[in-house]
Amino acid sequence: MTVELHKDDELAVLRLNRPDALNALSFDILRQIGNAFDEVAAMPDARALLITGAGDKAFCAGADIKELRNRRLVDQRRGAELGQSVFAKLDRLPIASVALVNGYAFGGGAELALASTFRIASPNAVFGLPEIKLGLIPGYGGTQRLPRLIGAGRALEIIMTGRNVKFDEAERIGLVNAVAEGDLMEAGREFAARFTRYSLPVLEFARRAVQRAGEMPLYEGLQVEAELSTLAYRLQDAEEGMAAFEEKRKPEFRDG
Ligand code: CAA
Repeated sequence: MTVELHKDDELAVLRLNRPDALNALSFDILRQIGNAFDEVAAMPDARALLITGAGDKAFCAGADIKELRNRRLVDQRRGAELGQSVFAKLDRLPIASVALVNGYAFGGGAELALASTFRIASPNAVFGLPEIKLGLIPGYGGTQRLPRLIGAGRALEIIMTGRNVKFDEAERIGLVNAVAEGDLMEAGREFAARFTRYSLPVLEFARRAVQRAGEMPLYEGLQVEAELSTLAYRLQDAEEGMAAFEEKRKPEFRDG
């Protein structure tokens, strides 16, 4: 298998394992990733998903360029839709995802990281959407997710020049949430532990509300927020959280 999925305590861990091609995304690998995301969605006790790439050189160097040439337009279009729909599954997962970017995250690899809820970079991480150098533009969500994350001006400059963005710049412009000082997997575990102790359904409401911020006008988004915050209030976990505050103790959330 070139896509491996395992449980590590309360975390699901997905690893792209094709290091000889810098974990490039063949269409077969994309389908495997989609199936793995479906499995994660059905895991009863996973509280976050970590996504990583095998080897120390690349998280993922993007779409498999060798598969891209001499295709019918209709197949190219379906390929883009496949990549987009597989990565969009991350939005609908009941748990948050964290991309652990070790080395190159180019093209579809950067787009996989962008589709994740959070990104942590190692000090050798390099991001890029180099499609312009191939005479292409990003096709697995990069033109839509990058500007939402770092603003249209910066996103356009990165997309239109195809230039590399190293880990430190990525952190400065908000492309990554954190840079790992030591072991990347350990940094991913620690990062996830900062939120996985909270109520899972409430975490999901928070993700849904923030997702809508990028999709709808302010006053519609505020309505969504009012509805989701009321839903959170109806859960036992909200009662427990507020009671624990008053009783000056740690809350014990039960995900309900
Ligand atoms: N597709 C297929 N194979 C790839 C690949 C890719 N995207 N990226 C790397 N590889 C393969 C190389 O062909 C090479 O294989 P061989 O040993 O069989 O020749 C192996 O991985 C190692 O790569 P390099 O020898 O090139 O390694 P390097 O350290 O010299 O360079 C790199 C690393 C700068 C990342 C370079 O490999 C590179 O530029 N790769 C392509 C990156 C790219 O353009 N990505 C965008 C793809 S298009 C896309 O993703 C569209 C979209 O929106 C979905």
